[in-house]
Amino acid sequence: MKDRYLDFVNSPFGTSIARSLGLPRPEVLRRHRADRAEFGGMAAIGAGPSPALFDDLLAVLSAIGMTSIAHESASGWLPVAARHGAMSGRFEPRARDTSASDRVEALIFDATGIDESGQLHSLYAFFHDALRSLARNGRIVVIGRPPATRESVKAATAQHALEGMTRSLGKEARNGITSNLLRVADGADFESALRFFLSPRSAYVSGQVVTIDAPAAAPESWTKPLAGKRAIVTGAARGIGASIAAVLAEHGAIVTGIDIDAARDALDQTMLSIEDASPSGGAHTALVADIAAPEAPADIAAALAASGGIDIVVHNAGITRDKTIARMSPEMWDSVIDINLLAQERIDDALLAQNVLREQGRIVAVSSISGIAGNRGQTNYATSKAGVIGRVRAMAPSLRARGITINAVAPGFIETHMTARMPFGVREAGRRLNSMGQGGLPVDVAETVAWLASPGSAGITGNVVRVCGQSLIGA
Ligand code: NAI
Repeated sequence: MKDRYLDFVNSPFGTSIARSLGLPRPEVLRRHRADRAEFGGMAAIGAGPSPALFDDLLAVLSAIGMTSIAHESASGWLPVAARHGAMSGRFEPRARDTSASDRVEALIFDATGIDESGQLHSLYAFFHDALRSLARNGRIVVIGRPPATRESVKAATAQHALEGMTRSLGKEARNGITSNLLRVADGADFESALRFFLSPRSAYVSGQVVTIDAPAAAPESWTKPLAGKRAIVTGAARGIGASIAAVLAEHGAIVTGIDIDAARDALDQTMLSIEDASPSGGAHTALVADIAAPEAPADIAAALAASGGIDIVVHNAGITRDKTIARMSPEMWDSVIDINLLAQERIDDALLAQNVLREQGRIVAVSSISGIAGNRGQTNYATSKAGVIGRVRAMAPSLRARGITINAVAPGFIETHMTARMPFGVREAGRRLNSMGQGGLPVDVAETVAWLASPGSAGITGNVVRVCGQSLIGA
C-alpha cells in the first residue's frame, strides 16, 4: 500500500508546505539499487582505549572502497591505515552548517577495548563531535564485545552500556540514519555484518544488537554470496515471502517457493518473475503445499531430498486471526499456532532428521515485533511469534556442531496485504512510531534474511534482528 504522506512531504510542493507547517518529513530511504554503487564515500572512525579491530576494519573498508578519517579518539588508526597502504586523514569537527558535500557516510566506533564505564566517555567525545557530520541515510556502527565474554564485571557492565548509546543515537539521528551495535567475540568474523549494516540493504534496520561469536569463511563473491545454494521459502506467493524469494535468487540461490493451493497462480507468477529477473534455467520452482497439513513435512523433505538437499530454509508463511481472547474461537487460536509455529517445528524436524538441510545450512524464521511486545487482539499471533524466537534461541547451540545457524527476523510495520487491512488509525500509528517515520517494505525484510543466510554469516546464530525502523513498540 502506498504511503501517500511520505510521497507528499517529499514532493516539491509538499516539501515547502511541510516546512511552513513544521510537519515531520520522513526521509526517502536509500535502498539497494543494482545501478547504484553499494558503498562509497568516507567513514569517520572513533575508538575507546585499546581498540582490537582496526586491522579488520581497515581490511573491510578497503575491500568495499570506502576511505576513512580518524577522530582524535582513534589516534592509532593512521599508523594502521599507513600499514595497509590505505589513504586516511584526520577528522575535524565541523560547525552546525556543514554542507552536504563535506559529510561522511558512516561513523564507526571500535569499543572493543572498553573495560570500565569511565571509558565510555570516548563514545561521548566521538559522537558529540561527529554526529552532525553524518550524511542523510548515513550509518552508525558501534563494535563491542559480548558482555558475557568479558572477564570482569566492570568490563561486562561497560560493554552492555553500549546498547543504550547505540539505540539512543538511532533515535536522535533521524534523516534515514541507522545505528546498530555489533558484539564481536574474540576471533569471530564480522565482515558480513559490517557490510550489511553499512549498505543500503539495511535501510530499515536500526537500533539492533547483533552478536557474532564464531569465525566465518568469506563467500567466493560478495555480490552473489548465495551462488550454488538451494533455498526454500514458505509463503512465497506474495508479500514478504515473494520478496525474500526474489532477493535470495538475486544473491545467486536456486529457490523453491512454497504456498497453499489457493495461492497457486500467484505462486507460479512470482516464481516466473523471479526466473526472469535471476535466470536459473528453470531451476527456481514452485511447490504447492499447506505447511500445516500433517503430510507436509514428509512431502517437502522428500521433494527436496530428490533434488539433492538444501542449504537455506526460510520460514515465512504466517497468518493472523485477530480477536481479543474472550471473543477468540478455538479454531482461531489453533490455526495461528499451527501455521506460525508448529509447522516450522515439524518441517525442521523432518529436514534435520533426514539431513535434507545440509551442513553449513541456514534457517531463518520470520517472527514479529508483536511476539516481542505483545499486541491487543493478537494473543494467538504474539504467542506464536514469541515461540518462534524461543525456538531460534533454543535450537542454535545444538545446531552449531553441523555448522547450521538459526536466526529470526522480527518485522515491524511492513507495507503488505496484512497491514493494508488494518484500520486507518492503527495503520498510521504503526507507520509513524519509529525512528524512520515510515513503514518498511518487504524488500527490507528480504535483504535481512539474505544477509543471515549468507556463508559470511556463519558466526551469527540464535539472534533476533528486528526490521522495524527502530519501532517504539517493544523497544
Ligand atoms: P501475506 O498474508 O501477504 O503473505 C503470507 C503468505 O503465506 C501468503 O502467500 C499465504 O498464502 C501464505 N500462507 C499462509 N498460510 C500458509 C500455509 N498454511 N501454507 C503455506 N503457505 C501459507 O503476509 P506478509 O505480510 O507477507 O507476512 C509474511 C510473514 O511476515 C508472516 O509470517 C507474518 O506474520 C510476518 N510479519 C508481517 C508483518 C507485516 O507488517 N506485514 C509484520 C510482522 C511479521
